Amino acid sequence: MRIKYTISIVFFVALVIIEKENNIISRVSDKLTLKQTPQTPLQPSGSSHVLLKHNASFTTLSKLHPAFMLMKRRLENYTQHQELTARGRKHILLLATTRTGSSFVGEFFNQQGNNMFYLFEPLWHVERMLTLETGGTNATAAARAYRDVLQQLLLCDFSLLESFIDPLPVDHVTTGLFRRESSSSLCEESVCSPFVKGVFERYHCRTRRCGPLNLTMASESCLQKEHRAIKSVRVRQLETLRPLAEDPRLDVKFIQLVRDPRAVLASRMVAFAAKYKNWKQWAMDGDVPIDDDEVRKLKGNCDNIRMSAEVGLRQPPWLRRRYMLVRYEDIARFPMRKATEMYRFTGIPFTPQVKSWILKNTQASKEASGVYSTQKNSSEQVEKWRFSIPFKIAQVVQKVCGPTLKLFGYKFVNSEEMLTDKSISLIEEKMFNFL
Ligand SMILES: *[C@@H]1O[C@H](CO)[C@@H](O)[C@H](O)[C@H]1NC(C)=O
Ligand SMILES: *[C@@H]1O[C@H](CO)[C@@H](O)[C@H](O)[C@H]1NC(C)=O
Ligand SMILES: *[C@@H]1O[C@H](CO)[C@@H](O)[C@H](O)[C@H]1NC(C)=O
Ligand SMILES: *[C@@H]1O[C@H](CO)[C@@H](O)[C@H](O)[C@H]1NC(C)=O
Ligand SMILES: *[C@@H]1O[C@H](CO)[C@@H](O)[C@H](O)[C@H]1NC(C)=O
Repeated sequence: MRIKYTISIVFFVALVIIEKENNIISRVSDKLTLKQTPQTPLQPSGSSHVLLKHNASFTTLSKLHPAFMLMKRRLENYTQHQELTARGRKHILLLATTRTGSSFVGEFFNQQGNNMFYLFEPLWHVERMLTLETGGTNATAAARAYRDVLQQLLLCDFSLLESFIDPLPVDHVTTGLFRRESSSSLCEESVCSPFVKGVFERYHCRTRRCGPLNLTMASESCLQKEHRAIKSVRVRQLETLRPLAEDPRLDVKFIQLVRDPRAVLASRMVAFAAKYKNWKQWAMDGDVPIDDDEVRKLKGNCDNIRMSAEVGLRQPPWLRRRYMLVRYEDIARFPMRKATEMYRFTGIPFTPQVKSWILKNTQASKEASGVYSTQKNSSEQVEKWRFSIPFKIAQVVQKVCGPTLKLFGYKFVNSEEMLTDKSISLIEEKMFNFL
């Protein structure tokens, strides 16, 4: 009884104050009169009245109280964000460098099933075009182009990418999209235009016969998918992608894939023999000119990878819960465990399809292993480089990539014997803090 009384008094006093400040009652009655014009059917009068009154005092209260206003704005921001990002939609960027097993890891997402739109190295076109135009890549300009193309693609917009495809697509149709067949999303029924006899498409679909790629169809299919993933070996600095993490339309998850730089070099010397002929010569001579451009380039690559990881592991606010570091060696040794962790990190269900793909492709025999093949005995693969790289070269990598090796937990070797002694693991068991 007493409480009721007190509440009434407080309420009355509040009303008087509010009314004094804002003349609400007159405004409310204005609104009521407006509402009851002949054109608008009368609402049940009671509820309309309460609603108006409530709305008016809500607005007034917010004027009186800045904290309340802030809360209201946050709520609006949140609602807006929810509308912009479809509920639960994830945007995955798998960032790596060449020869780190990124095609293999990309398959974890490519095989996810029909609620994932996966793109394999779309930035290939951007890099190529920028290199052609200027004869060398301007890192700043390239980083900006990569960022903008990725941002659009995560929103299923291919228009900027199109401008980098050579020859330029006609009516959004192209025969030249790099490695189209490596994205199962681009070879699905819904993106498969009728096959045209006599039209050559270099990277044609293998699962079905399709005509040249219609990017409008690709975009439409992308929009229907729940999640989107892109793999790229071309982004140098994670920091350059910050606007994507801050874009309210996206819920980006960055996965940075790294590998022992000594193993990467050994693998590149085989895969890109022409480009790495200096290294091969040095391997034979047993002597490496430490101030050579190639060595500087190696150092630059290692530094970029390390700096990106340092940013990620530091977890600045813009990257919170958005960054995960994965070592190739861990994936090769424990593919199922790591894939489970990656899926948990992204917040996407780990499907039986992905599981069976991993099982099938990590216990395979050697037969199917081509240079780009992902079908390898992955445990065996991890140690192979130790027998193909001369100790001298390993030493050079250790020298210029020392901090990178340390950060990721790769042990230094101090002799030829240690390098080739399989009983000594060069991989420290290391947990990287994510989440
Ligand atoms: C409630 O107030 C907002 C302004 O804060 C106004 O835009 C809205 O139309 C009002 N709603 C009603 C039902 O009067
Ligand atoms: C609402 O979002 C904008 C940008 O999206 C931001 O600048 C602003 O600070 C946010 N406001 C609040 C109250 O969180
Ligand atoms: C690289 O590109 C940026 C931005 O387009 C430009 O400002 C800069 O001068 C370029 N640098 C070189 C070395 O061309
Ligand atoms: C590409 O696909 C879109 C959407 O299905 C269609 O409207 C358009 O005609 C196609 N373009 C060509 C050149 O076939
Ligand atoms: C894969 O390699 C590991 C390590 O050398 C070996 O133990 C395993 O038997 C191999 N598995 C297959 C299926 O070849």
